[in-house]
Amino acid sequence: MNEPDATQPLHHGDWQYGIYLRGLAGETPEHPTALDELERRAAEALEPEPRGYVWGGAGTGDTMRANLEAFRRRRLVPRMLRDISQRSLATTVLGTELPAPVLLAPVGVQTIVHPDGELASARGAAELGLPVVASTAADRTLEQIADAAEDAPRWFQLYWPRDDAITESLVRRAEAAGYSALVVTLDTIELAWRPEDLSHGYLPFLQGTGIAQFTSDPAFRAALEKPPEEDVPGAVGHWVQVINRVVTWDDLAELRSMTKLPILLKGILHPDDARKAQRRGVDGVIVSNHGGRQVDGAIAALDALPGVADAVGDDMTVLFDSGIRSGADVVKALALGADAVLLGRPYLWGLALDGATGVETVLRMLLAELDLTLALCGFSRPAEVSRDALAPSAG
Ligand code: FNR
Repeated sequence: MNEPDATQPLHHGDWQYGIYLRGLAGETPEHPTALDELERRAAEALEPEPRGYVWGGAGTGDTMRANLEAFRRRRLVPRMLRDISQRSLATTVLGTELPAPVLLAPVGVQTIVHPDGELASARGAAELGLPVVASTAADRTLEQIADAAEDAPRWFQLYWPRDDAITESLVRRAEAAGYSALVVTLDTIELAWRPEDLSHGYLPFLQGTGIAQFTSDPAFRAALEKPPEEDVPGAVGHWVQVINRVVTWDDLAELRSMTKLPILLKGILHPDDARKAQRRGVDGVIVSNHGGRQVDGAIAALDALPGVADAVGDDMTVLFDSGIRSGADVVKALALGADAVLLGRPYLWGLALDGATGVETVLRMLLAELDLTLALCGFSRPAEVSRDALAPSAG
Protein backbone atom coordinates (compact mmCIF):
# COMPACT_ATOMS: atom_id res chain seq x y z
CA MET A 1 0.00 0.00 0.00
CA ASN A 2 1.18 3.59 -0.62
CA GLU A 3 2.04 5.84 2.27
CA PRO A 4 -1.09 7.76 3.27
CA ASP A 5 0.17 11.25 2.54
CA ALA A 6 -2.87 13.43 1.97
CA THR A 7 -0.92 16.61 1.23
CA GLN A 8 1.19 15.17 -1.60
CA PRO A 9 -0.95 12.60 -3.37
CA LEU A 10 1.28 10.38 -5.43
CA HIS A 11 -1.50 8.70 -7.29
CA HIS A 12 -5.12 9.63 -7.98
CA GLY A 13 -6.22 6.86 -5.62
CA ASP A 14 -4.48 8.57 -2.71
CA TRP A 15 -7.27 11.13 -2.72
CA GLN A 16 -9.17 8.70 -0.52
CA TYR A 17 -6.64 9.11 2.30
CA GLY A 18 -7.52 12.80 2.51
CA ILE A 19 -11.11 11.73 3.16
CA TYR A 20 -10.04 9.24 5.83
CA LEU A 21 -7.75 11.78 7.50
CA ARG A 22 -10.53 14.38 7.61
CA GLY A 23 -12.67 11.62 9.07
CA LEU A 24 -10.34 11.62 12.09
CA ALA A 25 -11.51 15.17 12.73
CA GLY A 26 -15.13 14.04 12.46
CA GLU A 27 -15.63 15.33 8.91
CA THR A 28 -17.38 13.28 6.28
CA PRO A 29 -17.54 14.00 2.52
CA GLU A 30 -20.11 16.56 1.48
CA HIS A 31 -21.29 14.49 -1.47
CA PRO A 32 -21.98 10.77 -1.58
CA THR A 33 -18.98 8.66 -2.58
CA ALA A 34 -21.31 5.98 -3.96
CA LEU A 35 -22.36 7.11 -7.41
CA ASP A 36 -25.87 5.66 -7.27
CA GLU A 37 -26.60 7.69 -4.14
CA LEU A 38 -25.16 10.79 -5.81
CA GLU A 39 -27.36 10.09 -8.82
CA ARG A 40 -30.42 9.80 -6.58
CA ARG A 41 -29.74 13.13 -4.88
CA ALA A 42 -29.12 14.84 -8.22
CA ALA A 43 -32.44 13.52 -9.52
CA GLU A 44 -34.19 14.91 -6.47
CA ALA A 45 -32.60 18.32 -7.03
CA LEU A 46 -34.11 18.78 -10.50
CA GLU A 47 -37.54 19.59 -11.87
CA PRO A 48 -39.24 16.77 -13.84
CA GLU A 49 -38.54 18.29 -17.29
CA PRO A 50 -34.73 18.63 -17.08
CA ARG A 51 -34.55 15.40 -15.08
CA GLY A 52 -36.43 13.62 -17.85
CA TYR A 53 -34.15 15.15 -20.48
CA VAL A 54 -30.95 13.94 -18.79
CA TRP A 55 -32.11 10.58 -17.47
CA GLY A 56 -34.39 9.68 -20.35
CA GLY A 57 -33.57 7.54 -23.34
CA ALA A 58 -35.11 6.44 -26.60
CA GLY A 59 -38.24 4.29 -26.64
CA THR A 60 -38.51 1.74 -23.86
CA GLY A 61 -35.07 2.49 -22.45
CA ASP A 62 -33.93 -0.96 -23.54
CA THR A 63 -30.58 0.13 -24.97
CA MET A 64 -29.91 2.45 -22.07
CA ARG A 65 -30.27 -0.52 -19.72
CA ALA A 66 -28.28 -2.79 -22.07
CA ASN A 67 -25.36 -0.34 -21.92
CA LEU A 68 -25.13 -0.82 -18.16
CA GLU A 69 -25.79 -4.58 -18.23
CA ALA A 70 -22.98 -5.13 -20.74
CA PHE A 71 -20.55 -3.91 -18.11
CA ARG A 72 -22.04 -6.22 -15.47
CA ARG A 73 -21.56 -9.24 -17.76
CA ARG A 74 -17.83 -8.65 -17.99
CA ARG A 75 -15.53 -9.42 -15.09
CA LEU A 76 -11.99 -8.34 -14.33
CA VAL A 77 -9.43 -10.93 -13.29
CA PRO A 78 -6.91 -9.22 -10.96
CA ARG A 79 -3.27 -10.29 -11.29
CA MET A 80 -0.88 -10.48 -8.32
CA LEU A 81 2.78 -9.85 -7.49
CA ARG A 82 3.34 -7.11 -10.05
CA ASP A 83 5.14 -3.89 -9.18
CA ILE A 84 2.48 -1.20 -9.29
CA SER A 85 4.28 1.23 -6.94
CA GLN A 86 4.98 3.77 -9.71
CA ARG A 87 1.78 4.41 -11.54
CA SER A 88 0.44 6.94 -14.00
CA LEU A 89 -2.93 7.34 -15.66
CA ALA A 90 -1.49 9.79 -18.19
CA THR A 91 -1.91 9.07 -21.87
CA THR A 92 -1.91 10.90 -25.22
CA VAL A 93 -4.84 10.73 -27.61
CA LEU A 94 -4.52 12.28 -31.08
CA GLY A 95 -1.90 14.73 -29.90
CA THR A 96 -3.89 15.74 -26.82
CA GLU A 97 -2.10 14.91 -23.58
CA LEU A 98 -4.57 13.64 -21.01
CA PRO A 99 -3.89 13.19 -17.29
CA ALA A 100 -6.13 10.11 -17.52
CA PRO A 101 -7.89 8.26 -20.33
CA VAL A 102 -11.08 10.18 -19.61
CA LEU A 103 -12.82 13.06 -21.39
CA LEU A 104 -16.13 14.74 -20.67
CA ALA A 105 -18.62 13.65 -23.32
CA PRO A 106 -20.32 16.37 -25.34
CA VAL A 107 -23.59 17.19 -23.63
CA GLY A 108 -25.87 19.99 -24.78
CA VAL A 109 -28.09 22.42 -22.86
CA GLN A 110 -26.36 22.03 -19.51
CA THR A 111 -27.95 25.21 -18.13
CA ILE A 112 -31.16 23.21 -17.62
CA VAL A 113 -29.25 21.33 -14.93
CA HIS A 114 -27.34 24.20 -13.32
CA PRO A 115 -27.27 27.94 -14.14
CA ASP A 116 -23.50 27.84 -14.81
CA GLY A 117 -24.05 24.99 -17.28
CA GLU A 118 -21.16 24.17 -19.60
CA LEU A 119 -18.90 26.73 -17.92
CA ALA A 120 -19.15 24.85 -14.63
CA SER A 121 -18.35 21.55 -16.33
CA ALA A 122 -15.34 23.07 -18.08
CA ARG A 123 -14.10 24.54 -14.78
CA GLY A 124 -14.62 21.29 -12.88
CA ALA A 125 -12.76 19.33 -15.56
CA ALA A 126 -9.97 21.90 -15.72
CA GLU A 127 -9.27 21.36 -12.01
CA LEU A 128 -8.01 17.92 -13.01
CA GLY A 129 -6.71 18.91 -16.45
CA LEU A 130 -9.30 16.71 -18.16
CA PRO A 131 -10.68 17.78 -21.54
CA VAL A 132 -14.25 18.73 -22.21
CA VAL A 133 -15.82 18.05 -25.58
CA ALA A 134 -17.92 21.18 -26.09
CA SER A 135 -21.23 20.54 -27.81
CA THR A 136 -22.79 22.25 -30.82
CA ALA A 137 -25.96 22.16 -28.69
CA ALA A 138 -24.37 23.93 -25.72
CA ASP A 139 -26.08 26.86 -24.06
CA ARG A 140 -22.75 28.70 -23.78
CA THR A 141 -20.58 29.69 -26.72
CA LEU A 142 -17.53 27.65 -27.58
CA GLU A 143 -15.39 30.72 -26.83
CA GLN A 144 -16.88 31.03 -23.32
CA ILE A 145 -16.33 27.32 -22.71
CA ALA A 146 -12.73 27.64 -23.91
CA ASP A 147 -12.17 30.53 -21.48
CA ALA A 148 -13.62 28.48 -18.64
CA ALA A 149 -11.36 25.54 -19.52
CA GLU A 150 -8.30 27.84 -19.22
CA ASP A 151 -5.19 25.72 -19.86
CA ALA A 152 -6.99 22.39 -20.00
CA PRO A 153 -7.31 20.73 -23.38
CA ARG A 154 -10.65 20.84 -25.20
CA TRP A 155 -12.29 19.32 -28.23
CA PHE A 156 -15.30 20.55 -30.19
CA GLN A 157 -18.28 18.37 -31.12
CA LEU A 158 -19.95 19.20 -34.40
CA TYR A 159 -23.53 18.59 -35.39
CA TRP A 160 -22.95 19.27 -39.05
CA PRO A 161 -25.20 22.21 -40.10
CA ARG A 162 -27.00 22.37 -43.44
CA ASP A 163 -25.48 25.74 -44.21
CA ASP A 164 -21.84 25.35 -45.29
CA ALA A 165 -21.01 28.90 -44.25
CA ILE A 166 -22.04 28.09 -40.67
CA THR A 167 -20.08 24.83 -40.70
CA GLU A 168 -16.94 26.58 -41.87
CA SER A 169 -17.48 29.38 -39.36
CA LEU A 170 -17.89 26.94 -36.44
CA VAL A 171 -14.73 25.08 -37.46
CA ARG A 172 -12.72 28.29 -37.71
CA ARG A 173 -14.04 29.50 -34.35
CA ALA A 174 -13.10 26.18 -32.75
CA GLU A 175 -9.59 26.41 -34.19
CA ALA A 176 -9.22 30.01 -33.01
CA ALA A 177 -10.44 29.14 -29.50
CA GLY A 178 -7.81 26.43 -29.07
CA TYR A 179 -9.88 23.29 -29.61
CA SER A 180 -7.54 20.48 -30.62
CA ALA A 181 -9.90 17.96 -32.23
CA LEU A 182 -13.28 17.83 -33.94
CA VAL A 183 -15.84 15.21 -32.94
CA VAL A 184 -18.54 14.76 -35.57
CA THR A 185 -21.63 13.17 -34.06
CA LEU A 186 -23.38 10.99 -36.63
CA ASP A 187 -26.17 9.28 -34.74
CA THR A 188 -28.49 12.25 -34.24
CA ILE A 189 -29.54 13.23 -37.76
CA GLU A 190 -33.08 12.86 -36.40
CA LEU A 191 -34.13 13.28 -32.82
CA ALA A 192 -35.25 9.85 -31.63
CA TRP A 193 -38.63 9.01 -30.10
CA ARG A 194 -38.11 9.97 -26.45
CA PRO A 195 -41.29 9.29 -24.46
CA GLU A 196 -40.07 11.06 -21.32
CA ASP A 197 -39.54 14.37 -23.12
CA LEU A 198 -42.67 13.87 -25.22
CA SER A 199 -44.76 13.37 -22.10
CA HIS A 200 -43.58 16.77 -20.87
CA GLY A 201 -43.75 18.35 -24.32
CA TYR A 202 -40.22 19.46 -23.50
CA LEU A 203 -37.51 20.34 -26.00
CA PRO A 204 -35.38 23.16 -24.55
CA PHE A 205 -34.02 24.27 -27.93
CA LEU A 206 -37.46 25.46 -28.97
CA GLN A 207 -37.34 27.91 -26.07
CA GLY A 208 -34.01 29.20 -27.37
CA THR A 209 -31.95 27.23 -24.82
CA GLY A 210 -29.00 25.32 -26.29
CA ILE A 211 -28.52 27.26 -29.51
CA ALA A 212 -25.70 29.55 -28.32
CA GLN A 213 -23.19 28.33 -30.93
CA PHE A 214 -25.61 29.57 -33.57
CA THR A 215 -26.86 32.81 -32.07
CA SER A 216 -23.21 33.81 -31.53
CA ASP A 217 -22.20 32.86 -35.05
CA PRO A 218 -21.74 35.58 -37.68
CA ALA A 219 -22.76 33.28 -40.55
CA PHE A 220 -25.97 32.29 -38.72
CA ARG A 221 -26.77 35.85 -37.70
CA ALA A 222 -26.24 37.12 -41.24
CA ALA A 223 -29.26 35.13 -42.40
CA LEU A 224 -31.63 36.55 -39.73
CA GLU A 225 -33.94 39.50 -40.25
CA LYS A 226 -33.51 40.65 -36.64
CA PRO A 227 -30.72 39.79 -34.19
CA PRO A 228 -31.52 36.82 -31.90
CA GLU A 229 -31.45 39.16 -28.87
CA GLU A 230 -34.52 40.94 -30.31
CA ASP A 231 -36.30 37.97 -31.83
CA VAL A 232 -35.81 34.59 -30.12
CA PRO A 233 -38.59 32.79 -32.06
CA GLY A 234 -37.06 34.01 -35.33
CA ALA A 235 -33.65 32.66 -34.33
CA VAL A 236 -35.14 29.33 -33.22
CA GLY A 237 -37.07 29.10 -36.49
CA HIS A 238 -33.90 29.51 -38.50
CA TRP A 239 -31.98 27.15 -36.22
CA VAL A 240 -34.56 24.42 -36.91
CA GLN A 241 -33.83 24.82 -40.61
CA VAL A 242 -30.05 24.70 -40.43
CA ILE A 243 -29.29 22.40 -37.50
CA ASN A 244 -28.69 19.04 -39.09
CA ARG A 245 -27.42 18.09 -42.50
CA VAL A 246 -27.82 14.46 -43.54
CA VAL A 247 -24.22 13.66 -44.39
CA THR A 248 -22.91 10.56 -46.14
CA TRP A 249 -19.47 9.02 -46.47
CA ASP A 250 -18.55 11.12 -49.51
CA ASP A 251 -19.22 14.36 -47.61
CA LEU A 252 -16.45 13.65 -45.11
CA ALA A 253 -13.86 14.83 -47.63
CA GLU A 254 -15.34 18.34 -47.35
CA LEU A 255 -14.67 18.50 -43.66
CA ARG A 256 -11.27 16.85 -44.07
CA SER A 257 -10.20 19.58 -46.49
CA MET A 258 -11.63 22.29 -44.23
CA THR A 259 -9.36 21.70 -41.24
CA LYS A 260 -6.11 20.16 -40.12
CA LEU A 261 -7.59 19.29 -36.73
CA PRO A 262 -7.92 15.56 -36.04
CA ILE A 263 -11.45 14.37 -36.87
CA LEU A 264 -13.29 11.72 -34.87
CA LEU A 265 -16.64 10.17 -35.78
CA LYS A 266 -18.97 9.63 -32.83
CA GLY A 267 -21.68 6.99 -32.94
CA ILE A 268 -19.81 4.20 -34.72
CA LEU A 269 -21.09 0.72 -33.78
CA HIS A 270 -20.37 -1.47 -36.82
CA PRO A 271 -16.85 -2.69 -37.68
CA ASP A 272 -17.42 -1.94 -41.38
CA ASP A 273 -18.25 1.69 -40.60
CA ALA A 274 -15.05 1.93 -38.59
CA ARG A 275 -13.02 0.49 -41.50
CA LYS A 276 -14.68 2.90 -43.91
CA ALA A 277 -13.82 5.80 -41.62
CA GLN A 278 -10.23 4.64 -41.51
CA ARG A 279 -9.99 4.41 -45.29
CA ARG A 280 -11.32 7.95 -45.61
CA GLY A 281 -8.62 9.49 -43.49
CA VAL A 282 -10.64 9.96 -40.33
CA ASP A 283 -8.39 10.01 -37.28
CA GLY A 284 -10.55 8.29 -34.72
CA VAL A 285 -13.92 6.77 -33.93
CA ILE A 286 -16.03 6.96 -30.81
CA VAL A 287 -17.97 3.77 -30.19
CA SER A 288 -21.22 5.08 -28.74
CA ASN A 289 -24.97 4.72 -28.97
CA HIS A 290 -25.52 8.20 -27.49
CA GLY A 291 -26.26 6.72 -24.09
CA GLY A 292 -29.28 4.82 -25.43
CA ARG A 293 -30.94 8.08 -26.45
CA GLN A 294 -31.22 7.38 -30.17
CA VAL A 295 -31.94 3.82 -31.34
CA ASP A 296 -33.91 1.84 -28.78
CA GLY A 297 -32.93 -1.78 -29.32
CA ALA A 298 -29.45 -0.89 -30.55
CA ILE A 299 -26.51 -3.01 -29.48
CA ALA A 300 -24.94 -2.08 -26.13
CA ALA A 301 -21.99 0.14 -26.94
CA LEU A 302 -19.61 -2.06 -24.93
CA ASP A 303 -20.67 -5.10 -26.97
CA ALA A 304 -19.80 -3.20 -30.16
CA LEU A 305 -16.38 -2.10 -28.90
CA PRO A 306 -14.21 -5.22 -29.45
CA GLY A 307 -15.44 -5.68 -33.03
CA VAL A 308 -14.66 -2.07 -33.91
CA ALA A 309 -11.26 -2.18 -32.19
CA ASP A 310 -10.31 -5.38 -34.03
CA ALA A 311 -11.48 -3.95 -37.35
CA VAL A 312 -9.23 -0.90 -37.26
CA GLY A 313 -6.23 -2.33 -35.40
CA ASP A 314 -3.68 -0.14 -33.64
CA ASP A 315 -3.46 2.48 -36.38
CA MET A 316 -6.66 4.26 -35.50
CA THR A 317 -7.77 5.87 -32.26
CA VAL A 318 -10.79 4.18 -30.70
CA LEU A 319 -12.70 5.94 -27.95
CA PHE A 320 -15.78 4.76 -26.11
CA ASP A 321 -18.85 6.07 -24.31
CA SER A 322 -22.32 4.96 -23.19
CA GLY A 323 -22.52 3.40 -19.78
CA ILE A 324 -19.29 4.39 -18.01
CA ARG A 325 -20.19 4.67 -14.32
CA SER A 326 -17.08 3.57 -12.41
CA GLY A 327 -13.33 3.11 -12.48
CA ALA A 328 -13.88 -0.59 -13.15
CA ASP A 329 -16.03 0.30 -16.17
CA VAL A 330 -13.16 2.36 -17.58
CA VAL A 331 -10.76 -0.57 -17.13
CA LYS A 332 -13.20 -2.90 -18.90
CA ALA A 333 -13.51 -0.49 -21.84
CA LEU A 334 -9.71 -0.19 -22.05
CA ALA A 335 -9.48 -4.00 -22.00
CA LEU A 336 -11.90 -4.26 -24.92
CA GLY A 337 -9.88 -1.88 -27.07
CA ALA A 338 -10.67 1.72 -26.09
CA ASP A 339 -7.77 4.18 -25.92
CA ALA A 340 -9.83 6.42 -23.66
CA VAL A 341 -13.45 6.87 -22.60
CA LEU A 342 -15.93 9.71 -22.44
CA LEU A 343 -17.90 10.19 -19.26
CA GLY A 344 -21.52 11.21 -19.86
CA ARG A 345 -24.44 11.43 -17.44
CA PRO A 346 -22.47 11.06 -14.16
CA TYR A 347 -20.79 14.46 -14.54
CA LEU A 348 -24.22 16.01 -15.08
CA TRP A 349 -25.30 14.54 -11.75
CA GLY A 350 -22.35 16.32 -10.13
CA LEU A 351 -23.27 19.49 -12.01
CA ALA A 352 -26.88 19.29 -10.82
CA LEU A 353 -25.80 18.87 -7.21
CA ASP A 354 -23.03 21.42 -6.90
CA GLY A 355 -21.98 23.11 -10.17
CA ALA A 356 -18.25 23.07 -10.95
CA THR A 357 -17.41 21.57 -7.55
CA GLY A 358 -19.87 18.76 -8.14
CA VAL A 359 -18.34 17.99 -11.53
CA GLU A 360 -14.86 18.05 -10.03
CA THR A 361 -15.96 15.70 -7.23
CA VAL A 362 -17.42 13.15 -9.64
CA LEU A 363 -14.24 13.26 -11.71
CA ARG A 364 -11.95 12.90 -8.69
CA MET A 365 -13.94 9.90 -7.53
CA LEU A 366 -13.75 8.31 -10.97
CA LEU A 367 -10.00 8.84 -11.32
CA ALA A 368 -9.34 7.61 -7.77
CA GLU A 369 -11.33 4.46 -8.41
CA LEU A 370 -9.74 3.98 -11.81
CA ASP A 371 -6.23 4.28 -10.36
CA LEU A 372 -7.02 1.89 -7.50
CA THR A 373 -8.74 -0.65 -9.77
CA LEU A 374 -5.86 -0.60 -12.23
CA ALA A 375 -3.33 -1.04 -9.42
CA LEU A 376 -5.28 -3.82 -7.74
CA CYS A 377 -5.62 -5.61 -11.08
CA GLY A 378 -1.82 -5.41 -11.51
CA PHE A 379 -1.43 -2.54 -13.98
CA SER A 380 0.75 0.58 -13.73
CA ARG A 381 -0.68 2.44 -16.72
CA PRO A 382 -3.72 2.32 -18.98
CA ALA A 383 -1.79 1.09 -22.03
CA GLU A 384 -0.91 -2.15 -20.20
CA VAL A 385 -4.55 -3.24 -20.06
CA SER A 386 -5.45 -5.78 -22.70
CA ARG A 387 -8.26 -8.23 -23.26
CA ASP A 388 -6.81 -10.81 -20.92
CA ALA A 389 -7.65 -8.49 -18.02
CA LEU A 390 -11.18 -9.89 -18.43
CA ALA A 391 -12.50 -13.35 -17.62
CA PRO A 392 -12.29 -15.38 -20.87
CA SER A 393 -15.80 -16.79 -20.66
CA ALA A 394 -17.18 -13.25 -20.86
CA GLY A 395 -15.68 -12.75 -24.32
C1 FNR B 1 -25.93 13.79 -24.70
N1 FNR B 1 -25.07 13.36 -25.70
C2 FNR B 1 -24.68 14.25 -26.69
N2 FNR B 1 -23.79 13.86 -27.66
C3 FNR B 1 -23.36 14.74 -28.59
O1 FNR B 1 -22.55 14.37 -29.43
N3 FNR B 1 -23.80 16.04 -28.58
C4 FNR B 1 -24.69 16.49 -27.66
O2 FNR B 1 -25.05 17.66 -27.66
C5 FNR B 1 -25.18 15.57 -26.69
N4 FNR B 1 -26.09 15.96 -25.75
C6 FNR B 1 -26.46 15.10 -24.75
C7 FNR B 1 -27.33 15.55 -23.75
C8 FNR B 1 -27.63 14.70 -22.68
C9 FNR B 1 -28.53 15.21 -21.58
C10 FNR B 1 -27.07 13.40 -22.60
C11 FNR B 1 -27.33 12.50 -21.43
C12 FNR B 1 -26.23 12.97 -23.61
C13 FNR B 1 -24.51 12.00 -25.69
C14 FNR B 1 -23.22 11.94 -24.87
O3 FNR B 1 -22.17 12.58 -25.54
C15 FNR B 1 -22.80 10.49 -24.61
O4 FNR B 1 -22.74 9.79 -25.82
C16 FNR B 1 -23.74 9.77 -23.65
O5 FNR B 1 -24.08 10.59 -22.57
C17 FNR B 1 -23.10 8.50 -23.12
O6 FNR B 1 -24.01 7.74 -22.38
P1 FNR B 1 -24.03 7.73 -20.76
O7 FNR B 1 -22.73 7.16 -20.30
O8 FNR B 1 -24.23 9.14 -20.34
O9 FNR B 1 -25.20 6.88 -20.40
